[in-house]
Amino acid sequence: MEVFWFEQNSDDLPATDDWLSMQELACLRAFRFQKRAADWRLGRWTAKRALALCLSLASGADALASIEIVPAATGAPTALLAGKPSGWNISLTHTHGRAACALTRRHIALGCDLEKVEPRSDAFLADYFTPDEQKVFADASPRDRDLLATLFWSAKESAAKALQEGLRLDTRTLSVLRVGCPAPWSHWAPLTVAAAAGRTFHGWWRADGEYVATVASDPSCSLPIAPLAHKTQVLAEGRRGKNADAIAHCSAD
Ligand SMILES: CC(C)(COP(=O)(O)OP(=O)(O)OC[C@H]1O[C@@H](n2cnc3c(N)ncnc32)[C@H](O)[C@@H]1OP(=O)(O)O)[C@@H](O)C(=O)NCCC(=O)NCCS
Repeated sequence: MEVFWFEQNSDDLPATDDWLSMQELACLRAFRFQKRAADWRLGRWTAKRALALCLSLASGADALASIEIVPAATGAPTALLAGKPSGWNISLTHTHGRAACALTRRHIALGCDLEKVEPRSDAFLADYFTPDEQKVFADASPRDRDLLATLFWSAKESAAKALQEGLRLDTRTLSVLRVGCPAPWSHWAPLTVAAAAGRTFHGWWRADGEYVATVASDPSCSLPIAPLAHKTQVLAEGRRGKNADAIAHCSAD
């Protein structure tokens, strides 16, 4: 199954709010803390732009305002189009003026997360990670430790979002079983997270400058692709098809 990945940062945001629906505007105005409002606004912008690309909608404010991202009772985001279910399944994350949205066409368990690589205290590692995970950190160099701890944390957050639990869940009930090494470094590599009751989430991670991005799902998804890249790929496949026809035609001659 395909998973799409779309990122934006605060520089991509328009100054106006006409791309929000009336309900969303009311929600934005109700936030008491400016940071929360800014994160929420960037998350909404990112998800709406991603959906507009996937749905081949126009990129204008009206089209974006017809898409609404509303929280389910769990807090998980759901995407509506003109007030009706969009048929797309999304997960959202925002941090330090960056946001990402993962999207699939089918309703599956899906979660995504973006984290800045930062030092984590021993107390944090002891409180939130399993003994096996703590051993991985203890065996790593100090530099690798920060990356690994951030990556494992992000993988757990993605799985916790896929379960629609978020951090209500004890993160030690989620075990990072495997993280692949990306080659080249900025590409996606696989990861696996085990949850309670034998459930397993498969996903992907990538290092992007000071940040780590993760996506986890059940069932597993193919390598994340950008909505634009997907269109280009479809076009390229169409062209390849035509070229292949041309080659077949020439050889038949
Ligand atoms: C989900 C959670 C782990 C995200 O943590 P975070 O690192 O601070 O934030 P991120 O930027 O990575 O992700 C935030 C997004 O996760 C999504 N999210 C929130 N709760 C979620 C849940 N239960 N399941 C899946 N996704 C969820 C939301 O879209 C949220 O962004 P938004 O509120 O602007 O729409 C954290 O918010 C959490 O555990 N919350 C607990 C549940 C809770 O108290 N929800 C309150 C509303 S009922």
